Amino acid sequence: MALDAFFFIVSLFLLFPSPSVSDSTTQFCSAGTEYGVGSCGVSSTRILIKGGTVVNAHHQELADVYVEDGIIVAVQPNIKVGDEVTVLDATGKFVMPGGIDPHTHLAMEFMGTETIDDFFSGQAAALAGGTTMHIDFVIPVNGNLVAGFEAYENKSRESCMDYGFHMAITKWDEGVFRDMEILVKEKGINSFKFFLAYKGSLMVTDDLLLEGLKRCKSIGALAMVHAENGDAVFEGQKRMIELGITGPEGHALSRPPVLEGEATARAIRLARFVNTPLYVVHVMSVDAMDEIAKARKSGQKVIGEPVVSGLILDDHWLWDPDFTIASKYVMSPPIRPVGHGKALQDALSTGILQLVGTDHCTFNSTQKALGLDDFRKIPNGVNGLEERMHLIWDTMVGSGQISATDYVRITSTECARIFNIYPRKGAILAGSDADIIILNPNSSYEISSKSHHSRSDTNVYEGRRGKGKVEVTIAGGRIVWENEELKVVPGSGKYIEMPPFSYLFDGIEKSDANYLSSLRAPVKRVRTEAT
Ligand code: URP
Ligand code: ZN
Ligand code: ZN
Repeated sequence: MALDAFFFIVSLFLLFPSPSVSDSTTQFCSAGTEYGVGSCGVSSTRILIKGGTVVNAHHQELADVYVEDGIIVAVQPNIKVGDEVTVLDATGKFVMPGGIDPHTHLAMEFMGTETIDDFFSGQAAALAGGTTMHIDFVIPVNGNLVAGFEAYENKSRESCMDYGFHMAITKWDEGVFRDMEILVKEKGINSFKFFLAYKGSLMVTDDLLLEGLKRCKSIGALAMVHAENGDAVFEGQKRMIELGITGPEGHALSRPPVLEGEATARAIRLARFVNTPLYVVHVMSVDAMDEIAKARKSGQKVIGEPVVSGLILDDHWLWDPDFTIASKYVMSPPIRPVGHGKALQDALSTGILQLVGTDHCTFNSTQKALGLDDFRKIPNGVNGLEERMHLIWDTMVGSGQISATDYVRITSTECARIFNIYPRKGAILAGSDADIIILNPNSSYEISSKSHHSRSDTNVYEGRRGKGKVEVTIAGGRIVWENEELKVVPGSGKYIEMPPFSYLFDGIEKSDANYLSSLRAPVKRVRTEAT
């Protein structure tokens, strides 16, 4: 849909909220009024999804799903309801938990500009693609975590779907040490990200990472890393410029897979030394994936998150003679040569990697042109929020690499488990939030910046066609995407607090105790007088 038409529909709902929308229609109405925008005063929304194949990560079955007031009330065959319920026919289709994207950057100030998608446009795009929750990265303000959190509270006020926050750590002092606990105990944050790249801006050194890992462990928060060796990347960039390579291809050449492998291995070893779980974001190379595989094989709790761009694209685009095309593929770590993507798909299908994100961090072609003469100034990031569910279905399920239950696990359930919000999210179970998609495996799609819902004028998946289309998205019990039409209301999304000490922390105390008892130290020595 053209952006104009999309925002026209949104505006209609804002300008003319229906005063008495009946439950028997499929019309949208906001039940959540957290920020007081867009409510049309309806107290109950009842939906029956009939005749579909309900897919959870653990099981799939033919069943109906009944939803009331934003919650799934029943999942069973042949549910009978009265007239006042909206009925959706899902015969021949899959009924699945809405996607949860663990990795997004909306309204992020980065590399001298701000991402073109804010919380509203990014989330609207997500909903059109079947994602009903995302977790965004709060960037501290001058290193201050609480100020960063408050800034992101403001940025997210126009949210139209549920979301949570990770927090980046960019410096270390007593305030950061103290605020990490405040954020966990009072603000619902249970993960902190450490950038080992972006020297001179977000990058942290090993001593900070070590302090951060220790602190994360003590407060039950998950440590996350952007794993590239930032010092070596800096050196690689200098090398490219000296060689006269200033275009987007210089981005890939300056930060090869070996630097991702090194940083991944280092972070994994430090997490092992501290004995705390580790989450490696945007795993882009075989080099990084091999380190994760080795660590997991040895029993270490390491989570690996590939992103759609790394699974599906390859780096040939960066050599495109057209700067606008080449620059839209600039992200970090870089999209890798042919072979890495398929290896990451294999790792995902065999459980070496656990869940799929997007790293949605979108800049339009004008913003990308900031680096026209110097690849180091091209804002790093690609789109994916709207495309993830479709591309993963087509690439992984459509090709027979994974089952529908696996698909639910890697796009939704595993994220909910890791960030400790399962089964409220990530499941079609009685009592879960009614975040649901209906996917038609026989219907097709084509991706284009002309019809996508992001504000960007480009799309890294331009022209890509596939099978398996999200025909309906239900978020918080409301139909927000149906018949190719978005019906979203700014302010209707809820902030989801995520409690600490997820399942990844089970057994940590015992293994610490085992470690201590294995030391056979300190050795009690009898001091003998020197003769
Ligand atoms: O290129 C990327 N990945 N941009 C977003 C920031 C990050 O490193 O996650
Ligand atoms: Zn990153
Ligand atoms: Zn990112």
